[in-house]
Amino acid sequence: MRHPRKLIFVCTGSDCKKSGGKALKKQLKAELKEGQLKGNCKLISTKCMDMCKSAPVVIVEDHFLKKTNFSKVLQQLKKS
Ligand code: FES
Repeated sequence: MRHPRKLIFVCTGSDCKKSGGKALKKQLKAELKEGQLKGNCKLISTKCMDMCKSAPVVIVEDHFLKKTNFSKVLQQLKKS
């Protein structure tokens, strides 16, 4: 069964956090609360996904985003 909202998994492991994952999560949280994506997405924090060399790691639906940033995540959300 497909979840009615798009799922965004943000790695909150220590390497991703250090590489900007923490700020990215904050930005996404704010965007989901008040921006255009309000009510359409669900943000889920994960532990280390074992891809620390590609930090920060975010998964949007079934797409892995490596060394990502806020605009890349938004772009992917629009595509999926
Ligand atoms: S800390 Fe994010 S993949 Fe390891």
